[in-house]
Amino acid sequence: MKKILGVIMAGFMATSALAAEIKLPLPEKTNTTTLIQALENRYSEREFSDKVVDNQTLSNLLWAAYGVNREDGRRTIPTALNKKDLNIYVFNKDGIWLYDATKNSLIQQSAENYLKLFQLQDYMEPVSTVLVYTGSNEDYAAMHAGSAYQNVELYIAANNMASVVRGYFEREKVREVLKLPDGQRVIISQAIGWKK
Ligand SMILES: Cc1cc2nc3c(=O)[nH]c(=O)nc-3n(C[C@H](O)[C@H](O)[C@H](O)COP(=O)(O)O)c2cc1C
Repeated sequence: MKKILGVIMAGFMATSALAAEIKLPLPEKTNTTTLIQALENRYSEREFSDKVVDNQTLSNLLWAAYGVNREDGRRTIPTALNKKDLNIYVFNKDGIWLYDATKNSLIQQSAENYLKLFQLQDYMEPVSTVLVYTGSNEDYAAMHAGSAYQNVELYIAANNMASVVRGYFEREKVREVLKLPDGQRVIISQAIGWKK
């Protein structure tokens, strides 16, 4: 009986572990690179090192993508009718995380490493962080994702990092592992990291 209870408890703890939340450090807003310099330096860098993207960098970069920049909760990007119906998921070796801009945190969706779903091109092998943009707006979801990924591209350029916006990945499987409700679409992915 004790043994059975132990197994049940372990199962329960594993399930609650999935609701783990990482409170990100406050985004740093001190970069002195000018917008023009960042635009000048933006490009797709396909030679990644295997250095992991730390939480401070993730916080900065996700804030640039879609963070709250006003007291009323509005974001760094415009969204149609201010519906904010874009989601950004972070895929890394520790699993899948949903960016919660209001709490500046990452909410765990899975504890499994799904990076292989993005490794259809050789250069992706050392990449340990991939952003996935999803949305529901039939007309505008791709525009929202494009606004956010370009903000990330500029952040990356301003910080001498590496990134590639990527449409070539196991899209259906990504949709499955995200367990997206009807109406939510996987729009695009973006590999992020450090230059080799
Ligand atoms: C919507 C979209 C999808 C893309 N998909 C891929 C991809 O699957 N793999 C890849 O290596 N690059 C991909 N790219 C990057 C483009 O190849 C790249 O932006 C283009 O060659 C121009 O190069 P640059 O970004 O250095 O200016 C994609 C870019 C966009 C905007």
